[in-house]
Amino acid sequence: MADKRADHPTDPVPGFDTMAVRSGLERTHYLEHSEPIFLTSSFVFENAAQAAARFAGDEPGFVYSRASNPTVSAFQERLAMLEGAEACVATASGMSAIMATVMSLTANGSHVVAARELFGATLQMFKILERFGVAVDYVNVTDPGQWRAAVRPDTKLFYLETPSNPLTEIADLAAIGAIAREAGVLLVVDNCLCSPALQRPLALGADIVVHSATKYLDGQGRVLGGAVLGSRTFIEETLVPFVRATGPTLSAFNAWVLLKGIETLGLRMERQCANALALARWLEANPAVERVLYPGLESHPQHRLAMAQQSAGGAVIAFEVGGGDDETRRRRAWQVIDNCRLLSITANLGDVKTTITHPASTTHARIGPEARLAAGIGEGLLRVAVGVENVADLSADLARGLAAG
Ligand SMILES: Cc1ncc(COP(=O)(O)O)c(C=O)c1O
Repeated sequence: MADKRADHPTDPVPGFDTMAVRSGLERTHYLEHSEPIFLTSSFVFENAAQAAARFAGDEPGFVYSRASNPTVSAFQERLAMLEGAEACVATASGMSAIMATVMSLTANGSHVVAARELFGATLQMFKILERFGVAVDYVNVTDPGQWRAAVRPDTKLFYLETPSNPLTEIADLAAIGAIAREAGVLLVVDNCLCSPALQRPLALGADIVVHSATKYLDGQGRVLGGAVLGSRTFIEETLVPFVRATGPTLSAFNAWVLLKGIETLGLRMERQCANALALARWLEANPAVERVLYPGLESHPQHRLAMAQQSAGGAVIAFEVGGGDDETRRRRAWQVIDNCRLLSITANLGDVKTTITHPASTTHARIGPEARLAAGIGEGLLRVAVGVENVADLSADLARGLAAG
């Protein structure tokens, strides 16, 4: 069934929360209210001529779910609306979204400028790509001058996260975007920590947005998923042929879970950000805590920039327990974790359940001590991804380990 709004082009553009529950809907002849799941690997044709026309792209329609599927298309359309993107391709995980983006834009001999402060697996992926002749230079995400200085004639893209995981460092998207445009390279931004509910990088200077949909888009820690968003030309001419041929496709079932997750994205983010700000303030006042990094705190080194780019501080807090050598700091950090009875000890983030992790021994363990040092990830650092529980319960859970000394 066609979208009724299509017949009324002068109607005002719906707000974010309206789009989150209503965009991407195309009902079948059963007129179901909730989005259907199309769990099918392939689609049948009326006859051989139609099969040939569909394969050739001369006739619109679904062919095979590695290339496209109605439930996946609904998710793509909904997320594109929320990010303000022309087009979107969904993938099986955040890492496959990042890999497909970088590989489809580079070849042997290409150069990439990437932030030093990236999610551990993303750093590892760049190391793997170096084996295939892609050179990567790392710069400080907070210093636009370093991005400008790193540009080479063979640079194809800039890659960053803002806020970064786990230290919540903020990139100036307008400044780095302007440098990218001047140099003729594409700025790719991982918008995982904010989600479009808080930040829309395409409107701020980015060319391409990537997501780990596993995080806030799902919001309840159920499925893996990813997405790439950008111009219709990039998506249709560069990314789709790569994904169709290499197969990191999102399953229809996971797309359906993510579609339903997105429906409550705005509501969840509002509560999670409010909780995170309250918990960050509580941590800042705790004498056992050496440093708190949360973009919503006035003490965050880039608080003003964060508040100009984001509608709230997000739900990820990094904090350091201090004192002594690395061994002591690790012991104290692990003590906070081991005394938790409510917070989940898990490396995932974006869940309605609050999670806690020690990045140096989990998400950033594989990158090695040198890269960790360069990224500022010390042994005393803890990352809390705040959920929707009552803040008093979260602080009481953390207070036990912090008091243990
Ligand atoms: C910022 C960021 N980007 C990408 C990823 C990778 O996503 P996925 O686990 O869905 O592959 C993660 C996962 O934690 C992440 O935190």
